[in-house]
Amino acid sequence: MKTLKLDLGSRSYPIHIGSGLLEKSDLLVPHIVGNRIALVSNETVAPIYMEQLATALSEYQPLSIVLPDGEQHKTLDVLDRIFTALLSERCDRQTTLIALGGGMVGDMTGFAAACYQRGVPFIQVPTTLLAQVDASIGGKTGVNHRLGKNMVGAFHQPQCVVIDTDTLNTLPDNEFSAGIAEVVKYGLIRDPEFFGWLENNLDKILDRDEQALSFAIYQSCENKAEVVSADEREAGERALLNLGHTFGHAIEVGLGYGTWLHGEAVAAGIAMAADLSQRLGWLAGRDVERIKSLLSRAQLPIRAPASIEPSQFLDLMSVDKKTQDGRLRLVLLEAIGRALVTDDFESEHLMQTLRACRSEQ
Ligand code: NAD
Ligand code: GLY
Repeated sequence: MKTLKLDLGSRSYPIHIGSGLLEKSDLLVPHIVGNRIALVSNETVAPIYMEQLATALSEYQPLSIVLPDGEQHKTLDVLDRIFTALLSERCDRQTTLIALGGGMVGDMTGFAAACYQRGVPFIQVPTTLLAQVDASIGGKTGVNHRLGKNMVGAFHQPQCVVIDTDTLNTLPDNEFSAGIAEVVKYGLIRDPEFFGWLENNLDKILDRDEQALSFAIYQSCENKAEVVSADEREAGERALLNLGHTFGHAIEVGLGYGTWLHGEAVAAGIAMAADLSQRLGWLAGRDVERIKSLLSRAQLPIRAPASIEPSQFLDLMSVDKKTQDGRLRLVLLEAIGRALVTDDFESEHLMQTLRACRSEQ
């Protein structure tokens, strides 16, 4: 097992990464506040892993809350089910919520913890690659709105993150690939050596080679922890973690939540951000090709769906948390390993990207 620390002063927390951690209650117990826990999962993950975790923590007589599966259920309505279950069981402020699942479960459990009785502690036990390398770390919690992705939420840091890499053994291939999009992101925004390592080791990762996968998860978590420690509330550097996301969120909303996986939409968004960066003369053509090639090798899309017209795409992109005074700001690339947030681009260049990066009908 390896452990990283996310440094936030008195709210610092450990990120444990290793095999067989679901059974290690000693990693969780020091972070459980009070004598009550509620395990929150979904209808796919709960039958596989809930019992293992509940058994390890049986002394807390865990309450189990099982949500429906799918991004389309990351809503205020479904969030209310968590509150109803907690209130029905008379859970008080000394209750710790534990999120067992992918980013959808983690974001919703974290948001429920941020709101329930004005805030209770929670722990992240992520079970998808995407949640292990990104969503479980950093305290962004929330739900979607039909008009915009992750538009209702709160910053609420977990007490700890426990990443049991064995859970990836049951993850479907397309979900695994979706996680690779966020791994590639770290290489692109701040870690060019890691990007090069990914180019050389992607086949091993796709084969789920234990050593290569553990390294990729560790490296990703380390990058994320450093960014969040430096800029918890996204006043600056943290916005770079949104590379590809403004394009990607437009795809998710435009197609309807759950049509494309979040990581798939982010992958196409990264390719589109690279395309625009090249049009602005910032990124070399050969680097754009390296990025597209790596994403394609990971079985990820590098074009937006044909069904979203460029003008509709632009409209969808305008609902973005980085927008300031009505001006769209995007994360773009100056090199592999160097990104910036900017509104310094002509809308005609963006339209060219939206037209050029659209799948054929
Ligand atoms: P997800 O939570 O929907 O999980 C993907 C699928 O895998 C689901 O069907 C789930 O039931 C299934 N699953 C989970 N673990 C499994 C396992 N071990 N074995 C078999 N099946 C398993 O999606 P995701 O990709 O994990 O997360 C995407 C969500 O995370 C989006 O809502 C996105 O907005 C959010 N996100 C949040 C942050 C953040 O910082 N808070 C960062 C990135 C993404
Ligand atoms: N995934 C973006 C962030 O955590 O800031």
